Amino acid sequence: MTTAPVLSLILAAGKGTRMCSQLPKPMHRLAHRSMLGHVMATVQKAGHTEIAVIIGPHMELLRDEAYTHSAECRVYIQPKQLGTADAVLSAREALAKHTGDIFILFADTPLLRSETLQKISATLDQGANIVVVGFETQDPTGYGRLLTDTQGNLKAIREHNEASELERKIRICNSGVMAFRCCDIIKMLNKIKNNNTKREFYLTDIVEIAHNDNLQSRVVICDEEELLGINNRAQLASAELKFQKQIRLEVMNNGVTLVDPSSVWFAYDTKLGQDVTIEPNVFFGSGVTIADGVYIRANSYIEGAIIGSCASVGPFTRLRPGAKLGSHSNIGNFVEAKNVDIGEKVKANHLSYLGDGTIGSESNIGAGTIFCNYDGFHKHRTQIGKESFIGSNTSLVAPVKLGKGVIIGSGSVITKNVPDGTLALERSSQIHKKGWATRFRTMMLRKK
Ligand code: UD1
Ligand code: MG
Repeated sequence: MTTAPVLSLILAAGKGTRMCSQLPKPMHRLAHRSMLGHVMATVQKAGHTEIAVIIGPHMELLRDEAYTHSAECRVYIQPKQLGTADAVLSAREALAKHTGDIFILFADTPLLRSETLQKISATLDQGANIVVVGFETQDPTGYGRLLTDTQGNLKAIREHNEASELERKIRICNSGVMAFRCCDIIKMLNKIKNNNTKREFYLTDIVEIAHNDNLQSRVVICDEEELLGINNRAQLASAELKFQKQIRLEVMNNGVTLVDPSSVWFAYDTKLGQDVTIEPNVFFGSGVTIADGVYIRANSYIEGAIIGSCASVGPFTRLRPGAKLGSHSNIGNFVEAKNVDIGEKVKANHLSYLGDGTIGSESNIGAGTIFCNYDGFHKHRTQIGKESFIGSNTSLVAPVKLGKGVIIGSGSVITKNVPDGTLALERSSQIHKKGWATRFRTMMLRKK
């Protein structure tokens, strides 16, 4: 075992042409996190403290994305995409000063699990100098093949284009994930030539070079699904589905009821308490935390929200970033809430916009209540004290503050602060004209 820090090198300089995108491929998202973010989180979870990301020229977005996942990571630019060995050498500086294990991963393999990285470390602990993660597949076309000897030692990796007919029959393939211990990786990389069909410097050639130097290479076999590489949007969609299936299973195993698991889409960071129930067609953006006993009804979209215990949400509710729901609150159909602190046992059951403000506990928000938070230039806050009652179809023109136990008459446009315990009405008084309707109807019927 080694206690030296582990360096993970993530290759992300490829153009990703088949995505047909303005974005660098590893920026594309899976469950609301970029592929690069997934790979970086996986290496961090495995305890790798040093991360280097190799990007291509003009990939500032990807560089910034790397820094958002680890402010300490190092980013290197590979000026020309001359192959995976050249990509690794772009981080020569990091490799030269590193004394611990070195892992190499691809940024387009987002389903890779930290457990696999731990398996690699265990194999290094058993004495291997190089570990390559392989997988078995029915259709190995395009992949590098793992050539092993009778003791299971890896002798070489043969890229598809360079492989003989016999070698192409091998169905154990290179995933791209590799690790190195106690070897002079720079010296070996410098020996790699590009005399192959693609005129690229293949990282995979390093195995044969190591073998000739009497270094030992071993293979760790993993599930093909985990090593799915994303090259186009169809593969991205199928990776998304696989990832969602994993999360759905995980949350159900932790005590969440999904009425129709296939129609609930989680973010990578959705946090769910026990005995939460989620009806069909619910979508989560990132940053959602849900406490125990919450009931989410069908067709709701929830992002950046914190939901207190036993609250009820939906159907057809939209919770946007900064929505905070107190325990036992009820936020019903066609209610949109954003950046608002909603107290315990508050009811806002129908058709409201609650944006930028606070609502005290046990207040009742009538149907059609609107927080008019925007004056065309700035956002303002609406504050409602506890145990207040807001009549239906009320506009609360922010900034405005309503005290405790206030009642607002239906249809009011409230522009002034309302003190505690006050009834506020803002509408013209109702007039009655006795018998007018009957006379009118009689006259019209005669004319018809
Ligand atoms: C590579 C492996 C192959 C393996 C397959 C698994 C090599 C030579 N081949 O082939 O054995 O079976 O992955 O999917 O390594 N990249 C750079 N700079 C470059 C070239 C590539 O950063 O100059 C990055 C890409 O962004 C990508 C990764 O390296 O993340 C793999 O490159 P790619 O061109 O997809 O390699 P494959 O031909 O798929
Ligand atoms: Mg590839």
